[in-house]
Amino acid sequence: MKAIVFHEHGGLDVLRYTDIDTPEPGPGEVRIAVEACSLNYHDVFTRRGMPGIKTPLPMIPGCDAAGRVDALGQGVTGWSSGDRVLVDPVQWSDDGRIRMIGDTRWGAYAQYVVVDARQLMALPDDVSAVDASCLPVAYGTAHRMLFTRGRIEAGETVFVLGASGGVGTCCVLLAKLAGCHVVAAAGSAAKCEALLALGADEAVDYSTTDIATYTRERTGSLFSGGGWDVVVNFTGGDTWAQTLRMVKAGGRLLTCGATAGYDPPTDIRFIWTAEMDVRGSNGWKRADLESLVAMVQDGRLKPVVDCELPLDQGAEAMRLLEERQFFGKVVITP
Ligand SMILES: NC(=O)c1ccc[n+]([C@@H]2O[C@H](COP(=O)([O-])OP(=O)(O)OC[C@H]3O[C@@H](n4cnc5c(N)ncnc54)[C@H](OP(=O)(O)O)[C@@H]3O)[C@@H](O)[C@H]2O)c1
Repeated sequence: MKAIVFHEHGGLDVLRYTDIDTPEPGPGEVRIAVEACSLNYHDVFTRRGMPGIKTPLPMIPGCDAAGRVDALGQGVTGWSSGDRVLVDPVQWSDDGRIRMIGDTRWGAYAQYVVVDARQLMALPDDVSAVDASCLPVAYGTAHRMLFTRGRIEAGETVFVLGASGGVGTCCVLLAKLAGCHVVAAAGSAAKCEALLALGADEAVDYSTTDIATYTRERTGSLFSGGGWDVVVNFTGGDTWAQTLRMVKAGGRLLTCGATAGYDPPTDIRFIWTAEMDVRGSNGWKRADLESLVAMVQDGRLKPVVDCELPLDQGAEAMRLLEERQFFGKVVITP
């Protein structure tokens, strides 16, 4: 089959569009003909190499796959060749190990991907493979972070940093659906325009505006009720201490990642002074994905797709993501 493969960790130049043996499904496994694979920043981390995670090489990136059942391994029941499916990227093995496609198993920047049959979700006919492929990692994580961990409620103010990316655009869409006042922050005027068009109530360009100053000007001093009820920060790095100054007394700071650095300087004074909750959120549960598929099916949610590229453009797709030249999700359509 054709795939985007890397044999060593490194920059974009380690990615090769090449022929590689089509994987065979083992017992309990299913081979999927990939119709769409959305990209995540996780793909960049995996390609570069992540501390604490051993990536078997060669590796094919791509965690988010939708397509059709192509071949069944021994003992698989309940699925037939041609069934439309969405893949839950995480495999919970009987031995207690957690594996994920595009991370510790071959992923979906490929014509085919093999997964455990328990990872499959039936895809309704009226949900496209491209839309479905946007859901698992980014949208599933946003759903769990905002609702299960963040407990956002109608009428609350929600500030989303990094709002132009996969998790970010979904946070904007879901918080608006929940009846919140959404403030979206992104790195260019054009991305801010797009976020307002998406439904954000306010947008702030952090390439030109200091977000803590913006918060103080819009909501007042933290000592007199200023700040946002909920601040979402999966960027980390230098933004971490900055967003500690933006949470209202009794509010929540939500995080699911650290695109710009995981061990940033902090300022603990704001945590106790504001009596804020710092809440971590990791991944999604199957129920998050089921809710999201239902929301797309009934029209409440429309995933934000920047562009669809063919498989041989897989390295270019990752370049767009890494260089922040996109809005929403980039999707490969093998
Ligand atoms: N724990 C989990 O289960 C989980 C699941 C999903 C994602 N995550 C994490 O959440 C983060 C976002 O993931 P994603 O897939 O939504 O990423 P993404 O689509 O690439 O979006 C990230 C956005 O962050 C902004 N950004 C700010 N500083 C950046 C920097 N130094 N490098 C790159 N982008 C930067 C960019 O927007 P502007 O150009 O507008 O600045 C970019 O659009 C990642 O750290 C990811 O690993 C964690």
